[in-house]
Amino acid sequence: MQLKNDLLIRAALGQKVERTPVWLMRQAGRILPEYREVRNSVSGFIELAKTPDLAAEVTIQPVDLLKVDAAIIFSDILVIPEAMGLPYEMVEKRGPWFPETIASASDIKKLRIADGSNDLGYVIEAIKITKKALNGRVPLIGFAGAPWTIFAYMVEGSGSKTFSKARAMLYNEPELSHQLLDMITESTIHYLKAQIKAGVNLVQVFDSWAGILPPDHYADFSLPYVAKICDAIHEVPKTVFAKGAFFARKALGQLNCETIGLDWNMDIQESRALIGQDKTLQGNLDPAVLYGSPKSIEQATHRMLDQFKGTRHIANLGHGVYPDTNPENVKVFIEAVKNYT
Ligand code: CP3
Repeated sequence: MQLKNDLLIRAALGQKVERTPVWLMRQAGRILPEYREVRNSVSGFIELAKTPDLAAEVTIQPVDLLKVDAAIIFSDILVIPEAMGLPYEMVEKRGPWFPETIASASDIKKLRIADGSNDLGYVIEAIKITKKALNGRVPLIGFAGAPWTIFAYMVEGSGSKTFSKARAMLYNEPELSHQLLDMITESTIHYLKAQIKAGVNLVQVFDSWAGILPPDHYADFSLPYVAKICDAIHEVPKTVFAKGAFFARKALGQLNCETIGLDWNMDIQESRALIGQDKTLQGNLDPAVLYGSPKSIEQATHRMLDQFKGTRHIANLGHGVYPDTNPENVKVFIEAVKNYT
């Protein structure tokens, strides 16, 4: 299927583009009343994610309503632990929660390496339905969590400010940690390959908790596993978003991927200097800019674009859009990217 709008793919590959493509992390979700309506028709997030027709519907909503240049499949990074044998729940207003967690070798023995297309067949089905419905209008992005970020949830059992249990395990049980990280990595490669086979045009790896590690732990327990995933995927362009890993930008620039995501704390020129010219950079508007006036949103967006000017760039926020953001302000951001000259 030929893509009618392939700006995202060309920008990722460093090819010539007429204008900078734009999409938002977490664009399929609570900012849209249309999403909340679909979500209220089922028992909750997990049922929605496991109902391929509905997952496809909310995946496409931002393309229709916000006019972004890409869709991202509606799912969550935590489907991987579940497919490995560690199910999660999504607690209203609190976030993910795992009834059982990983603390010992015997816990790890109970896990399996996920098979992308069987254990995660509902995501694969949602991708196929979405591709058909999109009919080539925009590229579809697939994704997974980075092994360290998934490890953090599997050991901690929920979100946390400090991820103390997960971080303690890296110090106390380094071998066990590597064993679990290996299993997550294998599962993730199977999963991303299955997503690609079903039709996604680009994949993004979210290392949302990269920034809580010290540089040496990031280098030992996160980066090598992200590198392994990048080395295993050849079929589509890859994006790595390591939130908070400002200390690792030089090493991220050496990964076998096309695009590096920047969070909003990262200086654009400094990042470009560290990462080099051979990668596309994605980001990195402060999500809180979207709480401002339309005028201020347009100015901040154009200031950001000025700093990326003439280099490989995909416009996005520096992290997921906050759920209480007014969708009208999101549209102002998208328009500001599109009308920039
Ligand atoms: O980007 C998109 O629009 C696609 C869908 C998507 C979701 N989660 C849906 C979701 C994506 C790409 C994710 C990734 C994800 N999930 C990450 C990495 C990106 C990041 O934000 O750092 C992480 C760390 C998670 C784990 C997760 N899922 C948390 C911590 C939470 C609770 C906090 C929150 O935002 O609600 C979720 C729930 C979740 N994932 C929701 C959605 C739409 C909200 C659930 C609901 O609708 O009730």
